[in-house]
Amino acid sequence: MKLKLFILFIVLTSCNDSSTNTMSKKDQNSSQIDRRVDSVLSLMTLSEKIGQMNQYNGFWEVTGPVPAEGDAAKKYDHLKKGLVGSMLNIKGVEEVRRVQKIAVEETRLGIPLIIGFDGIHGYKTISPIPLAEAASWDLETIRKSAEVSAAEMAASGINWTFAPMVDISRDARWGRVMEGAGEDPFLGSLIGIARIKGFQGDDLSATNTVAACAKHFAGYGFSESGRDYNTVDVGTSTLFNTIFPPFVAAKEAGVATFMNSFNELNGIPATGNAYLQRDILKGDWDYKGFVVSDWGSIGEMIPHGYAENGREAALKAILAGSDMDMESYLYIAELEKLVEENKVDISLIDDAVRRILKLKFELGLFDDPYKYCDLEREKAVVNSKENHDVVLDMAKKSIVLLKNEGQLLPLKKEGQKIALIGALASDKNSPLGSWRLAAADNSAISVLEGMQQYPGNELKYAKGADVTVGETAFISEVTINTDDKSGFQEAVNIAKKADKVVMVLGEIGFQTGEGRSVTSLDLPGVQQELLEAVFKVNPNIILVLNNGRPLTINWAAEHIPAIVEAWHLGSESGHAIAQVLYGDYNPSGKLPMSFPRSVGQIPLYYNHKNTGRPTIPAPNLVFWSHYGDEDNDPLYPFGYGLSYTQFEYSNLQIVDEFAEKGEITVKVDLQNSGSYDGKEVVQLYLHDLIATITRPVKELKGMEMVALAKGESKTVQFVLTEKELGFYDNNGQWRTEAGKFEVFVGGSSQTKYKIELEIKQQ
Ligand code: BGC
Repeated sequence: MKLKLFILFIVLTSCNDSSTNTMSKKDQNSSQIDRRVDSVLSLMTLSEKIGQMNQYNGFWEVTGPVPAEGDAAKKYDHLKKGLVGSMLNIKGVEEVRRVQKIAVEETRLGIPLIIGFDGIHGYKTISPIPLAEAASWDLETIRKSAEVSAAEMAASGINWTFAPMVDISRDARWGRVMEGAGEDPFLGSLIGIARIKGFQGDDLSATNTVAACAKHFAGYGFSESGRDYNTVDVGTSTLFNTIFPPFVAAKEAGVATFMNSFNELNGIPATGNAYLQRDILKGDWDYKGFVVSDWGSIGEMIPHGYAENGREAALKAILAGSDMDMESYLYIAELEKLVEENKVDISLIDDAVRRILKLKFELGLFDDPYKYCDLEREKAVVNSKENHDVVLDMAKKSIVLLKNEGQLLPLKKEGQKIALIGALASDKNSPLGSWRLAAADNSAISVLEGMQQYPGNELKYAKGADVTVGETAFISEVTINTDDKSGFQEAVNIAKKADKVVMVLGEIGFQTGEGRSVTSLDLPGVQQELLEAVFKVNPNIILVLNNGRPLTINWAAEHIPAIVEAWHLGSESGHAIAQVLYGDYNPSGKLPMSFPRSVGQIPLYYNHKNTGRPTIPAPNLVFWSHYGDEDNDPLYPFGYGLSYTQFEYSNLQIVDEFAEKGEITVKVDLQNSGSYDGKEVVQLYLHDLIATITRPVKELKGMEMVALAKGESKTVQFVLTEKELGFYDNNGQWRTEAGKFEVFVGGSSQTKYKIELEIKQQ
């Protein structure tokens, strides 16, 4: 073992000598790292190299005895032989130290492991689910929220997170919409960048940052009929203009890794898709990080019907550019033979291993494999008061006010009788959402607890009805309560005597997430009946929704005077909701995903095409693009959200300097004309009227969050360049075309406030 450490020491130190004046510090570091990587690589046997490409899930109670048989024993054995490059789902300083010690002290070369974890919306201090955070449109707060998650993970031994998920989706049936930023590639790109910056900071080797992972490359959010893992078949235009942009943005932001996806794309599973991984990602985009497979996705190419057996699956995955095998066990079983048989060129293995080792150097693991394993730091950082303050701020900003008729909100702080109804109102687990693998169960602040912070009113609580029956967990199917209404009467009784009723209804945290597709978006179980029963005795209802996806709430939208979209808001959920209900925070969120009127409208998205028959030609004629039984429009559109105050837009103007400076400035005046201070997300949409490829009726191309005191005004400016005006053609080439555009500005994607613009031939 001494010899091994000595060799590594030479590798690490012998590469520190070079310096050229012409190179930037970053370039110098990177070329130093490249040389160190090459030195390590030159010491490795083929099987050790393949070991670096192998990733295992946590394999036994790491603090317990060494496993003697089964899978766990195999993993342990591989770990000791240097045949594992990374592990996931090992967490906490003690557990991580224990596996890292095996890799560092018991293997021939002592190469440290990268430790990965799904810290997708927090580690122990849980942030709002990503879809909720996206509703804030507040990039700086989103960055800070990711920073908290990174700091807690890095303090707990972890140095790589499988986030952000930057999959665009237009289908609320797909449970994983909770994990993304919604339906729009422009917003999704900005949010992806904010999260990457939050996770990675500007120094991957710092002890409060982790490597990020842009996932799932590509097309996972377009699974047919919203069923998870299902087939994806999309055209070039959608691929380049909708699916790819957030991945391009992630690459540009320096994301350390990519994850491929479970789905096939146009007949080829993403994991074995050389067009995606080699031609586009590592070719056209010149991406230098590594690609990890999704869980078992190399092996899944067999049931996909793309590989006959494990050998062929491993072959197709490596040829296609998948660098690390998460939990398929196939690289470790097959790659060596494939190289020996000359089916896989060693250069492909070397390239993958280089990418993986490079990240290990960047994370500082070669300098100190235990740098993320400081018990004192873990105690100080995890669940700190400061972290809770950040996620509370994030939670408030994520809330969207959907309706507020008769100014029911904000609630008065004194002298009111308030009835609080719904199982979700007292639920301390559900607000933690889906990916809360490290959080303590029942550790969120419930709405009941949040509202109890306002003692000036008389607060009565009744559950009304459970949402689910029995135990709920990350991995198992939920059973919905469809018949137990025994709590209805108590709820009705307290509602009768109340001035106002707050009802918290929706989905539990485990109803969305991976494997959680549904065909109905109505309030689950008996909740709709409960809502109507309470409405009969007291219509002064404020409906607070807890959910991880858009729901169909037509009846509520028609009858209930106030509706607050409060998602699954994380550890501080109840505090955030109460502060919004009582007006201590004026809601400013805007929907990142359209709320359909019915499931039949899906896929439903604001940036759709016009079609050749967009409007009704004459009364009662059917031959236009519409439904006979439903509107085309969503119930609540993308970008929509109210405030306790009102905003007015005026004086929309264009300064066209495209010919001279290559840019166009759009100006608009915004006034807070209501009676509260507030924030508005000013949105700019473009419509390219005629192009060589038809363009959507509107595309978000600018956004700015503006805070205005009541009565205050501000002129807001946007600058449009070729980047905003252009699009990808069907060869994946970017182009900007002369012609007419409409420029829309307003507080939602349904804004009709517009001005025309003409780009002249240069
Ligand atoms: C998910 C990934 C996740 C991975 C590791 C997979 O099932 O699709 O998003 O990062 O598991 O937990």
